[in-house]
Amino acid sequence: MKKVAIIGTGYVGLATAAILSNTDIKVYTVDIDEDKIDIIKEGRSYFFETGLDEFVKKGVESGNLVPTTEYEEAIRESDVVFSCVGTPDKADGSSDLKYIYQVAEEVAKQCANSDKEEIIFVQKSTVPVGTGEKLVEFMKDVNSELKVNYVSNPEFLREGAAVFDTLNIDRLVIGSDNSESAEKVKGIFRKVFDLAQELDHSEYSEYANAYHDKLEALNEADFDDKVFVMDIKSAELVKVTANAFLALKISFANSIAKLSDKAGSNISEVMDGVGADPRIGRSFLYAGLGWGGGCFPKDVSGLIATANEHGVDLPIMDAAVLENAEMVGFVADKVVDLTPEHGKVAVLGLSFKPGTSDVRKSPAIRLANRLIDEGFEVVAYDPQAMEEAEEFLSDVVVLKDDIDSALDGVDAVVIATDWNVFKGYDWDKGKGLMSGDVVVDGRNCLDSERVRGAGLRYVGVGQ
Ligand code: UDX
Repeated sequence: MKKVAIIGTGYVGLATAAILSNTDIKVYTVDIDEDKIDIIKEGRSYFFETGLDEFVKKGVESGNLVPTTEYEEAIRESDVVFSCVGTPDKADGSSDLKYIYQVAEEVAKQCANSDKEEIIFVQKSTVPVGTGEKLVEFMKDVNSELKVNYVSNPEFLREGAAVFDTLNIDRLVIGSDNSESAEKVKGIFRKVFDLAQELDHSEYSEYANAYHDKLEALNEADFDDKVFVMDIKSAELVKVTANAFLALKISFANSIAKLSDKAGSNISEVMDGVGADPRIGRSFLYAGLGWGGGCFPKDVSGLIATANEHGVDLPIMDAAVLENAEMVGFVADKVVDLTPEHGKVAVLGLSFKPGTSDVRKSPAIRLANRLIDEGFEVVAYDPQAMEEAEEFLSDVVVLKDDIDSALDGVDAVVIATDWNVFKGYDWDKGKGLMSGDVVVDGRNCLDSERVRGAGLRYVGVGQ
């Protein structure tokens, strides 16, 4: 039986570990945090991610998923190790690689302890280009007897659709200078591809809609056509470049949305027309409060920092960051303009996007705090992220238990995250609860006709 160790139990590590353990691979899922491992041992995830618990549970029950805080057994038993730990951003925007190096050191040491002479070390964490080369040297310094077959295997899964994306591989990027290792890694993901053919994906695809219409094609396409084997440095650059381009697309849509606002156009219809061109594509052209989360902000700042280290300027990315920073103020100004007496406003949504409880760099939190600064009384509700949000919200923001209690007696409501429950809300009922009539749709996700039909004033971003 094939055995692998996956270090780090975040969105990437745990989703990969749980799904691989539902094939015939035995997976050691390693984290230094005992609390997290204890929860995984109970057969569930310690964070909210649609569909993930089911795979964790099956993996743990079958014995194929082994949650542990001990590197020793995990590394001794495995000939492939995946590094899936975080690379948070530092104050200067560059990536903090301390966890990456801790994992590399631990793996090299444990290989020495178990007399292992060779290991395939797969880097799934997002690291700056050139990191692989440095890590191999570093691991050699720790354990000179060890042959490290380094593979860069960037991960593209989205939070909220992590299970869906892990199963529905759109591309598999393998950066390696050793064809045997590349083949082994490819073989592991072939099993995921085969598993995906047998499953009904509807249960965990609620927020995977950007891919929905492609699902059939994705799974029908030949696995080999999805695999891109390249050198390590190229693979390292793929991930950050992909994220930077997506962030750029959103910021571009937001720039045009500002023009659309002034000109009286409708940005959603504009982008429907623009995105119908297959060279452009409709996805990631949805205007609104902008991008946040654990990836885009740090990957973009990390790319800019790496480029600068190489003496290269990336003004196009500087502009994308600036545009993104402005969107919260742009939406807040709408609330201010429509509610000149200020008063009380409900912020619906706190997570950085729907389908997740993650509030890292969430524009929704910045919006709630900004409205406090503007002098509003702010109440807020999120279906999943209230606990996480509390730490980052101004103390005076009052959290409510549901949409109805959030809307009770407010002058205005602003949609900050495009959760489906907000889209499907009964705005006739909302009108009865609110004392004012202003609805600012910061994600352009509501049916404006329905909102207006309820006697409310609807305003979106660029429409
Ligand atoms: C992203 C990448 O999509 C994924 O491939 C990578 O592996 C990790 O980073 P994620 O951070 O989970 O995934 O979120 P994503 O769905 O990409 O959304 C990022 C942000 O952009 C969210 O705040 C979202 O609300 C915003 N967004 C997205 C828009 O404002 N408009 C859009 O059109 C799309």
